[in-house]
Amino acid sequence: MNQDDARPPLPPGSATLPAAFYLDPGQFEAEFERFYVHRWVCVGRTESLAGPGDFLCPEIGDQRPILLRDDGGVLRAFHNTCRHRGTRLCDEPAGRLRGTLQCPYHAWTYALDGRLLGAPHMDDAPGFRCQDYPLAAAGVADWEGHLFVFLGEDPPDLHAALAPLAQRFAPWGMAQLREARRVTYDVRANWKLLIHNYSECLHCPMNHPALQKLSHYLSGVNVPPSERWLGGAMDLREGVDTLTPDGRTRRPFLPGLDPEARRRVHYYAVLPNLLLSLHPDYLMTHWLFPRAVDRTEVVCAWHFHPEALARADFDPDDAVAFWDITNREDWRLSELTQLGLASRGFRPGPYSNREDLLLAFDRIIRGETPRA
Ligand code: FES
Ligand SMILES: [Fe+2]
Repeated sequence: MNQDDARPPLPPGSATLPAAFYLDPGQFEAEFERFYVHRWVCVGRTESLAGPGDFLCPEIGDQRPILLRDDGGVLRAFHNTCRHRGTRLCDEPAGRLRGTLQCPYHAWTYALDGRLLGAPHMDDAPGFRCQDYPLAAAGVADWEGHLFVFLGEDPPDLHAALAPLAQRFAPWGMAQLREARRVTYDVRANWKLLIHNYSECLHCPMNHPALQKLSHYLSGVNVPPSERWLGGAMDLREGVDTLTPDGRTRRPFLPGLDPEARRRVHYYAVLPNLLLSLHPDYLMTHWLFPRAVDRTEVVCAWHFHPEALARADFDPDDAVAFWDITNREDWRLSELTQLGLASRGFRPGPYSNREDLLLAFDRIIRGETPRA
């Protein structure tokens, strides 16, 4: 019996959420406000803001904050709206600014630290002072190389909140890893269904034959769920190095991992939108960007150790190919679930004891404390 089976059973009557949670645009708006405005949202990797002027304008619902590195090397985030008449300042997804940020409408010009430097034709406006109109700041944080933004007021301390995870994953050295590849998927499913799908492996033998060959679906051990993350680990079968089509790796293992850590893959959903999959030789991330109640853009990226990347024979295709297939298998299941939830015959169904993380997540969605 593995540890997971020893966990207490779920409370009787534990059932999935009503369909409105997946179909009602009003519910979607309310969740967006709670989880994507009033929580830290992961938008990528800090390495994409390597030098002064580098910027990123991720799409988070109808918001396009500007994240950038200023001339002093400081990471900053601003709401993407001019202090004159509100125009979106930056309409590019990413790029490099040269010293300033200028509004395309009437050329109000801002320094990269948000100060308003110049406002044409405002000299004779009564009482006008540039210093009263800096860009509106948003929260920005670099956690272990992952770039986060906070759109609401008064961002809580992300590092404090995720400290136990930073400690648990220190051996993987996530901050040092570098992205080698990304694939973007347009998934016709509610964002919560993707977190559900990620948080259990009961569907694996039927749907992920390649994964099942390398890692047994019942080898999973979940850690007690928290308000901020849900996760666990699954063992690699004997003789399997990592998750690639043949179970072998052509890369060195990540240097901080001991022999025991090399025998497992860890899967963590950092709420609301970062999925961390830590392998012995690479990190895979998914960033979820909800677009509508029934649609989510998913960006999947593969990250490797700089020394592996520097080798002449470096090739991430094996890791990418394995997960691209598995991802698509998962999106299909999530899309079928989205469709089935709209059926006139749908009623909430019972969870098994191995769907404990899903129940915990649903409780968070309902505003209850997850059951540890
Ligand atoms: S709206 Fe930006 S300068 Fe006028
Ligand atoms: Fe899956």
